[in-house]
Amino acid sequence: MANAIFDHAAEILRENDRGTYTVPTHGLYPFQWNWDSCLTAIGQAHINEDRAWTEIDTLFDHQWDDGMVPHIVFHQHDDGYFPGPDVWQTHRPTPTSGITQPPVAGFAVRRIFDMTKDRDMARARAGALLPKIAAWHDWFFRSRDPQGTGLVAIIHPWESGRDNSVDWDAAFERVPTTGVLPFVRRDTQHANPDHRPTQAQYERYIYLVQLFRGLNWDNTKLHDASPFQVVDPGFNAILLRSCADLADLADTLDQPGIAAQARAHLARGLAAMETLWSDAQGQYLCLDRTLGTLIQSPSIGGLLATFAAIPQHRAAAIGTRLTILGEKVTYLVPSHDPDAAEFDSLRYWRGPVWLIVNYMIADGLQQAGQGDVAARIVADSIALIEKSGFAEYYDPTDGTPCGGGRFTWTAAMVIEFLAQAGR
Ligand code: GLC
Repeated sequence: MANAIFDHAAEILRENDRGTYTVPTHGLYPFQWNWDSCLTAIGQAHINEDRAWTEIDTLFDHQWDDGMVPHIVFHQHDDGYFPGPDVWQTHRPTPTSGITQPPVAGFAVRRIFDMTKDRDMARARAGALLPKIAAWHDWFFRSRDPQGTGLVAIIHPWESGRDNSVDWDAAFERVPTTGVLPFVRRDTQHANPDHRPTQAQYERYIYLVQLFRGLNWDNTKLHDASPFQVVDPGFNAILLRSCADLADLADTLDQPGIAAQARAHLARGLAAMETLWSDAQGQYLCLDRTLGTLIQSPSIGGLLATFAAIPQHRAAAIGTRLTILGEKVTYLVPSHDPDAAEFDSLRYWRGPVWLIVNYMIADGLQQAGQGDVAARIVADSIALIEKSGFAEYYDPTDGTPCGGGRFTWTAAMVIEFLAQAGR
């Protein structure tokens, strides 16, 4: 069974491979997405090491001069996606979007470095990527934490990777829609509209794009200009985990300056993360930076915090919370608490399970000594694949497959789960 699943996953990676990058899925997402690529490379590394490195190299070939790595690289023209390059207008040699995505590259590069067999290639490819990843991290702390709090804000829900989460609702309500130019959505032509964001949300997404475009995508201005500034514990945990992995790798590859800077970011970030803890909710919460208040929204973002080296007692509390959630759903981890009024088992990021988040939470729990909960998450992930195939995401109550099908990063995560279980 395990071998058949592995072969099927490898087939999906092949099918979505465009030579030097992989699309998330045919149709719905026809370009290169930032964190999709990094997580995909981890799965690819079990199949073709050179191709895995190339996936991340290609992404960083499109890094901006200021250090930002964009959330989408539009390698080829495709009318099937909105908003395309004509809306972003970033004036890059190869068009890109103008915002970023969860910085999982540092983690991915270290993971691939640790597992691959060709050591010369690993040292050369990782060594060349380290300064680029370090520049991206520095960009984050400079451009998205201008007050030096230790944690970075996202300025558009699409940066979070959890695009449609309940976490953004209240802050997003304050984003106006005046002056939004007419547009035609494409996502609802590829996927069930009931699983996708509403029209009002889409207008706000585009308002922010138009606002940033009007500032020429100048990152010294965007953060302060944005009416939407949210500090997400999950996003920051990914950044801090990448800082930790980058530091370790930089030590191994003899780049002490990078290691020292990454450890400085890490120490400040981990300390600041504690300001996001909520005893009442038993997890971390997002901070609405514009208002200075925590957002009372029990989502998976606060559980994903385990991906960073948070204190042991916090990881234990999150383990407990996951055990309780596990009694309410058939498949862990729901992206929102099923008891919350906003929970929607089918609409994306407002309830469904995503295997990439499962992978990161399970990894963090394992490192924190919470092996039992981690094992439940891995088992549920494999069960979802067996029941419903390689979907974009799944209903946590009955495993219904949702969103796009034959999905790349879902396949990549399954390869990792199987490999870690010794196939
Ligand atoms: C959706 C997800 C985002 C992902 C993209 C491509 O927009 O919310 O996290 O990167 O699809 O898979």
